[in-house]
Amino acid sequence: MLAALLVASVAAVPVRAQQASNPVVAERMRLMSDIGAASKIMGDMVSGRSAFDAARAAQAASTLAQLSSRVPDAFTANETDPASEALPSIWANWSTFTARADAMRTAAQNIDTSSEGGLRAGLAELGGACRACHTTFRE
Ligand code: HEC
Repeated sequence: MLAALLVASVAAVPVRAQQASNPVVAERMRLMSDIGAASKIMGDMVSGRSAFDAARAAQAASTLAQLSSRVPDAFTANETDPASEALPSIWANWSTFTARADAMRTAAQNIDTSSEGGLRAGLAELGGACRACHTTFRE
């Protein structure tokens, strides 16, 4: 259920990165889009949109962990752009923000991609990590 919500929220988000004229903002938005794409590969498997494939899921989880570790660097500079949905509270609460990024990386690393049930449970955790940050730090 949570995984389905995750997929729905990712699918509903248009790619806005191209609309940001500030290159720093465009880059961090692209990073988030890539995080969304890696999540969607796995989400599609548990929602039945694609067949469960353990190797492909493991690859996506590993990509996601790597992308997650790039989040703090991508957001270090306090840059703005009209297309951005990032809230200024990120830079006022930097250690909380980076802790949420760490939590996403841990959730990605902990996903058991060997079975569909494991993937489903891992994605529920992951979806919680996405929401924990978006709720506080994204418009
Ligand atoms: C550490 C905080 C944090 C975590 C964790 C996080 N996000 Fe984000 N996300 C953001 C912020 C901040 C933005 C807005 C960036 C901007 O517009 O400048 C964003 C934007 C996005 C966007 C929109 C990108 C665009 O082109 O506008 C997508 C898609 C997204 N996140 C997916 C995810 C998914 C999926 C996860 C979990 C696997 C996740 N995010 C976890 C902070 C986070």
